[in-house]
Amino acid sequence: MIKIELKIIIIASMLKVEVVLSPALLHLFDAKNKNVVVIDILRATSTICTAIHHGALAIKPVNNTDEALILKGSGYLTAAERDGHKLDGFDMGNSPFECMNGAVLNKKIALTTTNGTKCITAATIAGAANVLAGSFLNISAIAQFLIADKRDVVLFCAGWKDSVNLEDSLFAGALAQKISTKEAIECDSTLMVIDLYNRAKANIGQYLEQSSHYKRLSRLHHREDMEYCLKSDEMDIVVGLKSGEMVKLQVN
Ligand code: MLT
Repeated sequence: MIKIELKIIIIASMLKVEVVLSPALLHLFDAKNKNVVVIDILRATSTICTAIHHGALAIKPVNNTDEALILKGSGYLTAAERDGHKLDGFDMGNSPFECMNGAVLNKKIALTTTNGTKCITAATIAGAANVLAGSFLNISAIAQFLIADKRDVVLFCAGWKDSVNLEDSLFAGALAQKISTKEAIECDSTLMVIDLYNRAKANIGQYLEQSSHYKRLSRLHHREDMEYCLKSDEMDIVVGLKSGEMVKLQVN
């Protein structure tokens, strides 16, 4: 048991990990040819991973509702959320539960959300080698992928309308700690989120009850969504961008 553990730590320490706390800061980072993990824990990237886990063929992130409605004509399910609300006239909102029970099996989904989908586009424009969907639901699978791939890593928090949020920062800390060591880290925002995660990890759900989006989604009766999105390692898949669509990249 100890022997395996030692081997992973050696490989991980060489990975350079930077954390972008808000989309407004992305221009200060060089994401070119790096692995970028887009993080929107509540709820976009958690929902994207859940949809793929429940058999969706692909999720096409689009930046506005018109783009999604146009794709309906090509057989896509349409999913749209703004400010936590499902938009009228669309097949789905942004709840992971809408992806279960065969609802998205063998389907493609055109998804637009307040923050998360924009960040996927921004990471692509920034020249990322891979754009992955980050969630607690598949955190260990993502860590294994990043360590095996060896490229430098940018953890890109979606936040809320360019402001920093707690849940994405916490996840960035949890993942950074899995793939690197403090000695190897040269980015202060990475050190900050690791400390934040270690402060909250005993009970992340309770810690997040104070967060702005947790309160926002609670008012919209999405508590179940949040409890689900904070579960770890529910699925052993990696989801990433291929030809403009989020698909299953690797099954460990
Ligand atoms: C977002 O993209 O901002 C979030 O995923 C919104 C949400 O689902 O509550």
